[in-house]
Amino acid sequence: MSTLATIILAAGQGTRMKSSLPKVLHALLGRPMVHWPIQLSLELKSEPTILVVGHQNAAVEASVEASFPGQVRFALQKEQRGTGHAVMQAISAVPDSAEHVLILYGDVPLLEAQTVAKLFEAARARTAPLAFITTTLKNPTGYGRVVRDPKTGDVTKIVEEKDASPEVRRIAEINAGIYVVEARFLRENLGRLTENNAQGEYYLTDLVALAIAAHHPVATYEVADPNEVEGINSRAQLASLSAALRKRIAARLSAEGVTVVDENTTYIAPSVEIGQDTIIEAGVHLRGRTSIGARCHIDAGAILTDAKIADDVRILPYSVIEQAEVHPGAIIGPFSRLRPGAEIMENGHVGNFVELKKTRLGKGSKANHLAYLGDTEIGEGANIGAGTITCNYDGFGKYTTQIGDGVFVGSNATLVAPLAIDKNAYIAAGSTITDPVHANDLAFGRARQSVKTGRAEDLRAAARERAAKAKKK
Ligand code: UD1
Ligand code: MG
Repeated sequence: MSTLATIILAAGQGTRMKSSLPKVLHALLGRPMVHWPIQLSLELKSEPTILVVGHQNAAVEASVEASFPGQVRFALQKEQRGTGHAVMQAISAVPDSAEHVLILYGDVPLLEAQTVAKLFEAARARTAPLAFITTTLKNPTGYGRVVRDPKTGDVTKIVEEKDASPEVRRIAEINAGIYVVEARFLRENLGRLTENNAQGEYYLTDLVALAIAAHHPVATYEVADPNEVEGINSRAQLASLSAALRKRIAARLSAEGVTVVDENTTYIAPSVEIGQDTIIEAGVHLRGRTSIGARCHIDAGAILTDAKIADDVRILPYSVIEQAEVHPGAIIGPFSRLRPGAEIMENGHVGNFVELKKTRLGKGSKANHLAYLGDTEIGEGANIGAGTITCNYDGFGKYTTQIGDGVFVGSNATLVAPLAIDKNAYIAAGSTITDPVHANDLAFGRARQSVKTGRAEDLRAAARERAAKAKKK
């Protein structure tokens, strides 16, 4: 597959989505539909990848350019006059050096590289200038039917539903719309397509009859799983193909030694990497470029986005982690929130209702309950008590807090940044700390307790009287 150019057709409207968003930008597993065939084309090292755009082309181009900067060329099809017409708009972008042109659809996201390789093999085996993918459907309504010579079994033409006789409509083998064509054959024959058909469109499918008329063989490759070549036209199809993709990703991970407990409720984006013997429980979402090491346990309901998790980490239920890093042996959750720039060093513990942002928690340090730690650097073996809050924001700027190795921060401490607490210091519970605390010092920042001996009964009597008065009124 050396000198290959790929043309992806994505100019159609997709009215059945009932959406203001272009159809091909609806996402499967977080990746817009049209990005899937583009990704495939790039994997196949197409030179170049050409996307035919039309409806809402500016939005489609912007999305593609943002994810694949400079890697895709766009061909504008102003009016949608058929698949053949769409390819005509792109052909000038196919360089002379290209031997083959692969034609894909922007709304077919599940096609795999190995299937395209099979299609190439089929073309090569028959020295066919044109090969296309077929599949057999229980309900082929709406698709182009593959008509074969009853004696030889060779393809003779593709007939569109609207042009088909009742007899042809009974054929269950359909054209998937994915073609490998010799560039020269394509250039020579595109101009021969006509609009003389029921829809008044230039049908790309007529290339088949043109090849046969010129006594060229036409090859096909039939895929067993129709999902792989299914085009998305509705949100129901979007949902069912998303589910099929989830299954495919779960199957790949299982084969690599990862346990996905419930593939039906687990969402794992295509670029996520997971090490051996890691267990992913039900309801987990792994998004973006998340990577997870070996022997981790990601418990139910955890949501990880662009997270970097090392080996032997436990993420307990319902933790939310985004653009944060967790080192080996750490335990996070349940109900922890690691925001961008959080880093939990080896064997660190972060517990329930603890939020970290741009904060490093040192080796073996713990923040186990109810805390907010922002713009904070915490050393090794420190303990951050329940209810600790770093006051990193004064309404105008953000300030940092430094907490040294072995520091003990008692419960309900308020640490007003900028602030440094040096190693092995001890912060008394309930303190508001505004000034630096030096190594080994004990800091109090709270009112002293006072005790009125035996006065509890006086207080109760006064309270009773007040309540009685209020009732009379
Ligand atoms: C086409 C095939 C049909 C095949 C079916 C598979 C033709 C004539 N028919 O049907 O044999 O079974 O695909 O799904 O090719 N597009 C453009 N510009 C256009 C028209 C279409 O970019 O002017 C794009 C659409 O956005 C879509 C793809 O081409 O991604 C297929 O178009 P669609 O209208 O769904 O296919 P059909 O022509 O009905
Ligand atoms: Mg059409």
